[in-house]
Amino acid sequence: MKGVYTGKILTMSYITLGIESSCDETAAAVIQDGKKCLSSVVASQIDIHKEYGGVVPEIASRLHVELILPVIDKALKEAEMDAANIDGIAVTHGPGLIGSLMVGLSTAKALSFSLGVPIIGVNHLEAHLSAVHLENEVEFPFVGLVVSGGHTSLYLVRGYTEFELLGKTRDDAAGEAFDKAAKVLGLSYPGGVQIDRLAREGNTSFIDFPRPFKSSMTPDFSFSGLKTSLVYYLRKEPSPDEERLKDICASYQEAIVETLVDKTLLSAKGNNVGSVVIAGGVACNSRLRELAGERLGQKGLSVYIPSPKYCTDNAAMIGSMGAFRLMKGERSELDLTTFSTARSKYKRGRAAAQGS
Ligand code: KG4
Ligand code: ZN
Repeated sequence: MKGVYTGKILTMSYITLGIESSCDETAAAVIQDGKKCLSSVVASQIDIHKEYGGVVPEIASRLHVELILPVIDKALKEAEMDAANIDGIAVTHGPGLIGSLMVGLSTAKALSFSLGVPIIGVNHLEAHLSAVHLENEVEFPFVGLVVSGGHTSLYLVRGYTEFELLGKTRDDAAGEAFDKAAKVLGLSYPGGVQIDRLAREGNTSFIDFPRPFKSSMTPDFSFSGLKTSLVYYLRKEPSPDEERLKDICASYQEAIVETLVDKTLLSAKGNNVGSVVIAGGVACNSRLRELAGERLGQKGLSVYIPSPKYCTDNAAMIGSMGAFRLMKGERSELDLTTFSTARSKYKRGRAAAQGS
């Protein structure tokens, strides 16, 4: 080990190879001391899954097998490192698609064994929040909102490796709500980006979509009713023209974004924190970034949202999260296995494959 972690001061440098393969991105990154990204390579499979309207798990696993070694090689090359420079390996071991996770995990274990360096399994959701440390110094504790395709969760984050789950979605994730709406509106996968683009020119109050749990104190979310409202609306008013489509997207997006911001504010107040971090693919959403800055900023909170390249799935966040654990002396054994709450993602994949 080249570096020693003292909690505050990092002496010398600790090089972590991060590996991510939980869904449809094959990614590797080289991270110095948990905070500096030396390289981050992401091979996205989106163009292939697009044909099916969503991620098809079996196809994803097979593509990970083809891509993982070239992606790791590229990450090392871009960081001007070779394998001998690596002090530790961080790999996503859940949640995610089981077959996809297995590819990253098996590769990481083989590298750990052959290089004689420690390995650490990383929780993908906690890692989304760790992405903030690649660009900002954030004071602890903070409230972290993770909004991705499969998850919507609020955490109280007390330190680099200390996460307490405060609340989560009881049904669909925010990203799932975007993707499913896009599908019923005839937009391509992944839907969040398309809705974000169309919503920019639409009227946010054209349809009053439900804001679930709006007046309740729960830090939980629910988005499945929103999608159902959209389906009912389209039954009454089918085939919207381009202008109407923009209004529908703007109103739908506003309902999701307002709910996310309001629940984050509630948790921040309830836990007496001064900072909020929003991360995960949906944190790329331009309206979420804007409204969070405005509404949370007005309440005196510091709002941190990583750059879009660190919001969507990447391995830099995995390397960062893993580095903080490794530098503290945490290690996983070589019998490290996956933990998977992949039901919702699997459902998404299966629904896509069946065209529903
Ligand atoms: O974190 P992520 O890359 O992968 C998962 O861990 O799931 O998140 C992917 C999700 C997708 O549902 C996608 O539609 C959504 O992030 N997303 C967006 C935007 N960009 C990506 N949602 C809304 N607005 C965007 N600009
Ligand atoms: Zn993710």
